[in-house]
Amino acid sequence: MTKSVLVCGAGGFIGGHLVRRLLEEGCWVRGVDSKRHEYASHLATEFMVGDLCDQQFVAKVVDRDYDEVYQLAADMGGAGYIFSGENDAAIMQNSASINLNMLDACHRRTIGRIFYSSSACIYPAYNQTDPDNPNCAEDSAYPAAPDSEYGWEKLFSERLYMAYRHNYGMDVHVARYHNIFGPEGTWTGGREKAPAAICRKIAMAAAEDEIEVWGDGCQTRSFLYVDECIEGTLRLMRSGSCGPLNIGSDEMVTINQMVDLVADIAGKKIHKRHIPGPLGVRGRNSDNRLIRETLDWAPSDSLRAGLEKTYAWVSQQVEQSFAAVERVA
Ligand code: NAD
Ligand code: GDD
Repeated sequence: MTKSVLVCGAGGFIGGHLVRRLLEEGCWVRGVDSKRHEYASHLATEFMVGDLCDQQFVAKVVDRDYDEVYQLAADMGGAGYIFSGENDAAIMQNSASINLNMLDACHRRTIGRIFYSSSACIYPAYNQTDPDNPNCAEDSAYPAAPDSEYGWEKLFSERLYMAYRHNYGMDVHVARYHNIFGPEGTWTGGREKAPAAICRKIAMAAAEDEIEVWGDGCQTRSFLYVDECIEGTLRLMRSGSCGPLNIGSDEMVTINQMVDLVADIAGKKIHKRHIPGPLGVRGRNSDNRLIRETLDWAPSDSLRAGLEKTYAWVSQQVEQSFAAVERVA
């Protein structure tokens, strides 16, 4: 029988890739978002545009039974968005409302299986001060001390999903994503994360130019290519584990190392100008022991392989936007 699936946040980066994969599997997919997907206009079997903070709209979205529900819609961005301080109330109000509405509607309809995308941003800031040895093991989440309101909302919502599991027996699956990147992600406009931002800056630079890097570039992160994120998401959703499980790469690099990697891929000799900017935690890396133990699987692709595909896509977007400006001029 054809599997019936709902993807909330289908107009976004990860949601768009997830819908494509589910369609390839032969699923019937209803995608929902407040906007259409920027790069794939006919994505999903059926697409509903509307605000998931609106309970009446959510009732229309959850008007049938689904075999699987993926709740990825959120007010989301990279360091420039979540650490600016300007967006905290909107992030918390928007994302918490979506999760409250979706869980209530799914519970009323007795829809069991639901996936929620939490974040590495829930981990306590005090465990991420040493760039060489951050602790992001799943059981290190408490005592809670996320470094952003975005992280606090994610932690609240994780608990909300777990409460529906305990009280109503919902088949909940929670992942903590660690900085996901790839083609068709936000690459400009203020919400872009470091991989796309660095690709854009280097694509726009001349062969021996200088680019701006926030901070001293010695802060560490790991970055997961989107295809492996989708693979991990489906494996977790279809497993007996409710999580929360890290879905991330454990190939930790400094931001300076990532800049050098992208410069090498681009074939440019890029110089770095370190400037003040929103930094977030000093070090972060995905701890993959639990996912390996639980799912007998963990991401394994190299950062370089993902950056090669991402740089090719971002530089194409940069060229197209230059061409559009020239046409207008
Ligand atoms: P994204 O911003 O590309 O996608 C989120 C989508 O949610 C957007 O298309 C947005 O329009 C939609 N949305 C927001 N508010 C809405 C509303 N009120 N009604 C309907 N739609 C609404 O982000 P993404 O990178 O695809 O992230 C997907 C999920 O994974 C999010 O929950 C995010 O917090 C989580 N996550 C992502 C990362 C990452 O590195 N990309 C890391 C950790 C967690
Ligand atoms: N975005 C961006 N742009 N970051 C830069 C830049 C730049 O031009 N230059 C240096 N950085 C640095 C940031 O200061 C930060 O220290 C690091 O690169 C990583 O930044 P981001 O990729 O924007 O975000 P993050 O890793 O701190 O947090 C992201 O990942 C979380 C999950 O791991 C965010 O997208 C969160 O929303 C997400 O939950």
